[in-house]
Amino acid sequence: MRRTVIAGNWKMNMTPKAAVAFINELKTMTVGLDKCDIVLCVPFVDIAPAVEAAAGSNIHIGAENVHFAKSGAYTGEISAEMLTEIGTEYVVVGHSERRQYFAETDETVNLRTKAALAAGLKVILCLGEVKEERLSGITNEVVSMQTKLDLAGISAEELKNVIIAYEPVWAIGTGLTATPEQADETCGVIRNVIRELYGDAAAEDITIQYGGSMNDANAAELLSKENVDGGLIGGASLKTDKFITIIKAAN
Ligand code: PGA
Repeated sequence: MRRTVIAGNWKMNMTPKAAVAFINELKTMTVGLDKCDIVLCVPFVDIAPAVEAAAGSNIHIGAENVHFAKSGAYTGEISAEMLTEIGTEYVVVGHSERRQYFAETDETVNLRTKAALAAGLKVILCLGEVKEERLSGITNEVVSMQTKLDLAGISAEELKNVIIAYEPVWAIGTGLTATPEQADETCGVIRNVIRELYGDAAAEDITIQYGGSMNDANAAELLSKENVDGGLIGGASLKTDKFITIIKAAN
């Protein structure tokens, strides 16, 4: 049975002190809510204090990116080993903001995914179509291609540590949300690509999240869909009252 995973993506928000205060509050709110995994993907400098604050709870800490090299002359980058050494469990790879503003491609997303998996991190792999692609009716082709390219060379065993986040780019931070039917359909398309590449068991086991303006008001309906196994949440993960409502919807 696949796990429902509710993950926050804080982006470039929250200082280390704010992160600790948030987690201390969320920790008490989430006691007993164990039907979904709770992940917070936070800025690099927040990770160590966040891991400490979350200890003993069902909140898991992730990073928002990782470099693909083990070490070397890559000024400003962070390696997978640096992340695991400080207790990081998850990492977001291929977020559309990284693809859009930092020139990441399916090729580098694939390299980052491999490096993260090799180091023992769980990967939240993001993909999704832009507005023009949705309007042109090529969403299924786009997400299928991204899934294949981003997972190239990744084994069935490694895939067990991959979560896919389907995030239509037009829905991220815009207040526009895919309808539950659109989210379900496109997550289903991705699941079928997994079936084609890795077989039935892998397709049934993989967690596929929806992301893009998921919030306390729309989460329950999105999460009720067969192919939507959780959410990757930006804006609504920055306030404990909104985030806990989404976690409860998943429980
Ligand atoms: P949003 O962000 O919830 O603010 O739209 C989602 C994401 O970028 O993962």
